Amino acid sequence: MSTFQAPKGTYDLTPPRSATFLAVREAISAPLRDSGYGYIETPGFENVELFARGVGESTDIVTKEMYTLTTKGGDQLALRPEGTASVLRAALEANLHKAGNLPVKLWYSGSYYRYERPQAGRYRHFSQVGAEAIGTEDPALDAELIILADQAYRALGLRQFRILLNSLGDKECRPVYREALQTFLRDLDLDEETRRRIEINPLRVLDDKRADVQKQLTDAPKLRDYLCDACKAYHEEVRALITAAGVVFEDDEKLVRGLDYYTRTTFEFVHDGLGSQSAVGGGGRYDGLSEMIGGPELPSVGWALGVDRTVLALEAEGVELDLPAVTSVYAVPLGDEARRVLFGVVTELRRAGIAADFAFGGRGLKGAMKSANRSGARYTLVAGERDLAEGVVQLKDMESGEQSAVPLAGAAAELAKRLG
Ligand code: HAM
Repeated sequence: MSTFQAPKGTYDLTPPRSATFLAVREAISAPLRDSGYGYIETPGFENVELFARGVGESTDIVTKEMYTLTTKGGDQLALRPEGTASVLRAALEANLHKAGNLPVKLWYSGSYYRYERPQAGRYRHFSQVGAEAIGTEDPALDAELIILADQAYRALGLRQFRILLNSLGDKECRPVYREALQTFLRDLDLDEETRRRIEINPLRVLDDKRADVQKQLTDAPKLRDYLCDACKAYHEEVRALITAAGVVFEDDEKLVRGLDYYTRTTFEFVHDGLGSQSAVGGGGRYDGLSEMIGGPELPSVGWALGVDRTVLALEAEGVELDLPAVTSVYAVPLGDEARRVLFGVVTELRRAGIAADFAFGGRGLKGAMKSANRSGARYTLVAGERDLAEGVVQLKDMESGEQSAVPLAGAAAELAKRLG
């Protein structure tokens, strides 16, 4: 193993690709920030209990994929595999739900960890931007979140994504369905592990990717037929609101999701250019989660979009983000005196809010101009001894190739003017 190898299932973000990741986080969070969501940040690890109770003892995430550790002090911690349980825990701890301003709307961005089998689009360390709206049961809130995610993806230029929508029912109707489904599944020809799953989490069996399993599921009871009137009406209202907003979605009654806390509305954003790891984002309503982790009744809804997969989706569609050049002005000094003077000009430019960089290391003109080109700077400032003696610097427009001498004293002001 090379010393310079990131751990299995992880990768580093380095320039220039890292700029796309920043832009994606920015683009996903922008509609949230404009819609009353406040920023929240929680620790990268939590007590393992939180996820066991919140995400669910029967999920792969908790049973197989969690990075758990015991601290020297004996605490059982887990690197966070997802954000919802942490954000709800933090909101409860800070009593945000008691400030008389429901729903509490929060957004977040960060690293998450799952010990999964790595493959394209599936990593052990990945990044999400998420949103949670806590404490309110209102179909408009579910609709808002779906519309904002759609808006974020469209703003990025993504087109080949689809929204899958389902309702998982609530604590009244889902148990009835669960039992009917279990009765049906127990009669099928299934392997040991799947039989065990029938008893723990039968809905996940519907999600089985194997063709021979899917074939046996054709006549499985449908959750749709078991939804109680309240759930049906709620779901119809969500569908009507997103339809009215012009957001296209597909009803997908097989959509189950890999976390236990969901009730009623669930949805996934899938991208058709990504192969098997096609879910770029997902979410839904989790009306019982607060009580599951020991809090009061707080019906809530949220989503998380995967930044890594969103970047892969952009690449799959060939979308080039319009990233502004990092550097506007690049200074190339020829000689020690010019280095001092131009370094001063660069400092002045930066203080004036103009992105500027400098040819460090006393390189020759040719190498330094190459760096200037690579920096993407619109203007280059070059100065040698003779220029300084005349009180000027050479200002080159890298787009037109035009070059002219400008007075040294006014160089920063001239650049500020030209760059608008
Ligand atoms: P999730 O579906 O587990 O939901 O993850 C959301 C997104 O994170 C996925 O659609 C995917 O883009 C990304 N993701 C998940 N695992 C990986 C991985 N191993 N490698 C790369 N990307 C990954 C949740 O996490 C819920 N907390 C969402 C939510 C918020 N529900 C309600 N509020």
